[in-house]
Amino acid sequence: MLKGKNIVLGITGSIAAYKAAILVRLLVKEGAQVQVVMTPSSKEFITPLTLSTLSGRPVLCDFFNSNSGEWNSHVELGLWADAMIVAPATASTLGKMAGGIADNMLVTTYLSMKAPVFIAPAMDLDMFAHPSTQHNLEVLAGYGNHIIEPGTGELASHLSGKGRMEEPENIVQALKDFFLGKSLLKGKKVLITAGPTYEKIDPVRFIGNYSSGKMGFALAAECAACGADVVLVSGPVSQPTPSGAVERIDVESAAQMHDAAVKAFPACDAAILCAAVADYRPATCADKKIKRTGEGMVIELEPNKDIAAELGKAKRDGQRLVGFALETNDGELNAREKLAKKNLDFIVLNSLADKGAGFAHDTNKVTIIDKEGVAEYPLKSKRDVARDIVAHLSKLLLALLILVLPLDTFAVGEELNAKVSLNSSKVQGANTEVFKVLEEAITQFLNDRKWTANTYEDYERIDCNFNFVVDQYSPDGSFTTSLIVQGTRPVYGSNYSTTVFKYEDKAITFTYQPYDRMEFNEDNLDNNLTAVLAYYAYLIIGFDMDTMGDLGGNEWLNKAQSIANNAQTLGDAGWRAMSSENNRYSIIDDYMNGALEPVRKLMYKYHRLGLDTMYKNVTAGRKVITECLTMLNKAYEDRAMAYFPRLFVEYKNDELLNIYSNSSTKERQDAEKIITRIDPSLSAKWEELVSKPAEQL
Ligand code: PMT
Repeated sequence: MLKGKNIVLGITGSIAAYKAAILVRLLVKEGAQVQVVMTPSSKEFITPLTLSTLSGRPVLCDFFNSNSGEWNSHVELGLWADAMIVAPATASTLGKMAGGIADNMLVTTYLSMKAPVFIAPAMDLDMFAHPSTQHNLEVLAGYGNHIIEPGTGELASHLSGKGRMEEPENIVQALKDFFLGKSLLKGKKVLITAGPTYEKIDPVRFIGNYSSGKMGFALAAECAACGADVVLVSGPVSQPTPSGAVERIDVESAAQMHDAAVKAFPACDAAILCAAVADYRPATCADKKIKRTGEGMVIELEPNKDIAAELGKAKRDGQRLVGFALETNDGELNAREKLAKKNLDFIVLNSLADKGAGFAHDTNKVTIIDKEGVAEYPLKSKRDVARDIVAHLSKLLLALLILVLPLDTFAVGEELNAKVSLNSSKVQGANTEVFKVLEEAITQFLNDRKWTANTYEDYERIDCNFNFVVDQYSPDGSFTTSLIVQGTRPVYGSNYSTTVFKYEDKAITFTYQPYDRMEFNEDNLDNNLTAVLAYYAYLIIGFDMDTMGDLGGNEWLNKAQSIANNAQTLGDAGWRAMSSENNRYSIIDDYMNGALEPVRKLMYKYHRLGLDTMYKNVTAGRKVITECLTMLNKAYEDRAMAYFPRLFVEYKNDELLNIYSNSSTKERQDAEKIITRIDPSLSAKWEELVSKPAEQL
C-alpha cells in the first residue's frame, strides 16, 4: 500500500522524537521513500545522522545547505510528496502550522504541501488539553489535515494523561488506511442521483421539495475521491460539481431524472439514489401562467415512475443498488419496506425527527439498514456520512469481486495480513527494545514472506493475529512465550469477519537476539521460532482455503504437517506426537486424518454455503449451518478422541449462539445437544438460550 510512495516526515522537538526513528524504519520497510525534515529543536532529541541513515537520504533542517549554499526547496517537496506526516508535533509547531508562521523548514514545507498531511501531536497532558492547543488542532483539522489523536498513558513528565504520540505502527496503519480508501472504488462506475425534482404546474410554478443536493454531492465527491467514475444526475441545485471524474447531468423533473438514470445504470457497478424525487406530478402543465380567479383550485396529480424500483428490477448480478429513505415517523419500518420493495442492497435512513438531519443541513444522521442488520451512526458532516456509505458499498462490491475470482487466484504469495503483538508486561525490568524489535521482526517475517507461488492484491490477503505473551526472558536471548493465533475471513455482504482458526499455544521456547535474521528452511528446521511461525502461517492459509473450496487447503496443510513431523527433532514439547492430545502436532494430525474428513468438508459448507448465505437469507443460511453441526457430530462419533471438533466449537461458540438466537426452539435444542456433547463446558450459555421462550428471542 505504501510501496513507491513519497513521504515527507516532519519531526519536531519532543521527547517522542525517538519514535520517529521507528517510524522511518517502518515506512522504509513498507517500500516508501522518506524525506525527513526537522525543526532545529528536534535535533536536541534525535540526531539527523540516525534519521539519514535509516531513511537513506540527507535530512533537511535549514533553508540553505551551509556547505554548498544550495536552496532546499520546500516547494519541490510539496509537489514530490504523496503524504506528509508531522510526528511528533509539538504544541509550538501546531500553533505555527495553524497560524502560518513559516519560520523554519518544516512549517514552510507544510505550507507548500500539495499532498494530505497527517499530524501526530505529542506533549504533556495539560499542554494538550489547553484551549489554545485544542483550538489549533481544530483549525488544522478544518483545513483538511488528518489529526492522529495522541494516546493516554505515562508521559515524559511522569504524569499520566492524554498526550503520548500514537505508536509508529498505528501512524503507518493510518496512512495505509488512507491510501487504501483512495482506491476503494477504483475501476468502478457509480451512478448518483441528487437534489430535488421540480414538477411544473405552469411556466412559473412547480411542485418541489427542500433538497439542496448537499448529501448527493457529498456522495459524488467521496466516490470520486475513492477512485470511482461518477455519473451525477442532479435536480435543480446550486452546488458546484465535485472535482475528479464526475460527469454531471442536470435535470429538472422526475421524468427527466428517470430517463437519465435508466440510461446510465447498465454501464454502472452501483447506483446511490439520494435524490428527493417527487412521487407525483401535475397531470397537465398549463402553457401560460395560471391567473388568480379568487376561486379555489384543484390540481390533478399523476404518479411519477419510481426510479429506484425500476433500477431494482433491472439490476443484474454484480450490480449494487443503494436507496435513501427520508422519514418523519416509523423510520425503520418504512425503510425496511422500501429496501424490500425496491430490491435495494441497503438503504440509508434519515429522519426529519433528528435535529441537524435531512434537507439542507451540512450534517446528517443516518442508519444503514440491510438484510443483515442495522448500523446507526451519530450526527456527522454530510461528507463523513458519505464516507460511511461508501465504506459500506465498497465492502459489498469487494465481496462480489472475491466471490467471482476463481479459486486458484487465491493460491498466492505475500498472503498474510498478520497483526502481531508481543506483550512483555510479565517480564518488566528487561530491556524493552528487544521486544519491540522482535515484534517487528515477526511481523515482517509473516507479512513479507512468500508462502505460496501466486500473487495477492492487498485486499485479498488473509487477516490473522499473532498475540504473544512473554512469560520468561533472559538477556542471553532465550524466550518462553505463549501465543494466541487467530485467522479470520470476511462474511460476504456484511461487516462481519468470522474466525476460521483460533488456538492458544501455551509454551513456545526459542532464542532471539535483536536483529537476528529470521531464517526459515522447510527442510532444515533449526530455529524453533520460525518453525512455529511458518507452521501457523501454513495452517491459517490452509484453513482459509478450506473455507473457499472442499479440501482446498491441502497444499498448505500438508506443509504444516511436514513442519510438525520434522520439528519433533527440535525437542520442543509443542511438537511431540504423544506428549499432549492438543499440541501443534495433534492439531494438524487430527485435521488431516481421514476420519475427520467431514469436518474439513464442513469448513467450506459452513462458511461459503452457510454464513455467506445468511446475509441474503437467514433461514436458508442457518439450515446449512445446522447440517454442518450434524456433520461435526458424526465426525466426533467416528473419532471421539479427536481434538479438532472441540477446538471448532470452542472458537465458534459465540457465533453459533448468535446464529441460533432467532431460530426455532427445536433448532436451538438440536444445536445445543451437539455442541455440549462435544464440549460440555459450553453448556451454561446454551441452556440459557434454549430456556428463553420464543417471544423473548
Ligand atoms: O439534498 P439535501 O438537502 O442534502 O438532503 C438530503 C436528502 C434528505 C434529500 C437525502 O438524504 C434523502 O433522504 N434522499 C431521499 C429522499 C426521498 O425521496 O426519500 P423517499 O423515502 O421518498 O424515497 C425512497 C428512495 O426511493 C430514495 O432513494 C429515492 O431517491 C427513491 N425514489 C423515490 C421516488 C421516486 N419516484 N423515485 C425514486 O428513485
